[in-house]
Amino acid sequence: MDEIKDLMAAARCGSAQGQLIDLASGTSHFDIREHADLTLDAGALSDIARYGDCMGMYSLRCGVSDFLAEIHGVRIEPARIMITDGASGALTIALGALLHPGAEAIIPAVAYPMFSVVAEHFGARCISVPLTSEFKVDIDAIAAHVTERTRAIVLNSPSNPFGTVLEMSELRRLASLGVPLVSDEVYSILSYDGRVPSALELDGDHFVINSFSKAFAVPGLRIGYVVMPERLVNATKSWRRLVNVATSMPSQVIADRLVRNGPAIIRAHREFLHARRDAFVEVARDLDLALVPKNGMFGVIDVSSSDRASDAIARDLVLTQRVSVVPGADFCRLAQHDDAGDFLRVNFSCSRTVLTEGLDRLHRYLSV
Ligand SMILES: Cc1ncc(COP(=O)(O)O)c(C=O)c1O
Repeated sequence: MDEIKDLMAAARCGSAQGQLIDLASGTSHFDIREHADLTLDAGALSDIARYGDCMGMYSLRCGVSDFLAEIHGVRIEPARIMITDGASGALTIALGALLHPGAEAIIPAVAYPMFSVVAEHFGARCISVPLTSEFKVDIDAIAAHVTERTRAIVLNSPSNPFGTVLEMSELRRLASLGVPLVSDEVYSILSYDGRVPSALELDGDHFVINSFSKAFAVPGLRIGYVVMPERLVNATKSWRRLVNVATSMPSQVIADRLVRNGPAIIRAHREFLHARRDAFVEVARDLDLALVPKNGMFGVIDVSSSDRASDAIARDLVLTQRVSVVPGADFCRLAQHDDAGDFLRVNFSCSRTVLTEGLDRLHRYLSV
């Protein structure tokens, strides 16, 4: 992804013809400003120019608790909710609380790359377990890899990039393996195919991670949260204080405002994405879709019939077609099969005109 971003920046400055079309971004094109006020006046800012609580603003944690009760039907005490610097901050805090050198973390083989990067940073050995042919987590294979050194099983439902979901029965089976789950659910709120089951419903020492970046389309605020097991709240708090003290207060004040109107904003965001998904499926008719997306903002295009690797295709697409996508290879740090990353991830939440032009360029390139 870094290489694609650099190439996009160079393409924007260059003299090549044609507008650069960005289908690589990880953010929804939903315009939150049509639904909420993101401004803070000077008076409000001067009131909050101090260190915040390492757990986050109490009113925001209460707001998140109400929001989770409304969206997932589960009541979580604010004492277990810590506000973090995005889901990225939440992952660092959760994995840092669980892992140590010599520990093992089980991670699906095609996954958001940060999971293994952070786990390795804490000295853990990452055990990759390939997905099934339907891009789902293979629970029997995970069970077979649990050892006395396993300290975490990292899950992502709906997954980035495939959008596949873990059913409640599957979450229960995973929890029964006796290892803490770290469940990244940043896309769960943006499902337009019914409620996505959440690890919040499980008993046990699990960490559940979420973010405002995706749900409210505000990644620049850097607001996320982790729901901690009660038993580990104090240890996690101590560790978090050492990581970066507390999350930005101005961002928390804006997030507090967003979450109070959260269910209405999310309804509007889901409707927006549902319509963009329908347009995508129609416009992508001539491309080989790996599956029809049921949540979030990404589609996955199968390029296994090409003789080129996905990263080479993505590079070529920016340089010759001026369209950016994320290569499947970026999600395969741990994958053991050479062909696991034979796909391109496309953000379909842009306007239909932009999407049509972007996919036309993609199709033209892949048809040669
Ligand atoms: C699965 C997953 N987790 C975490 C993140 C990071 O989100 P945040 O902006 O909240 O740090 C992303 C961003 O793309 C993601 O896809």
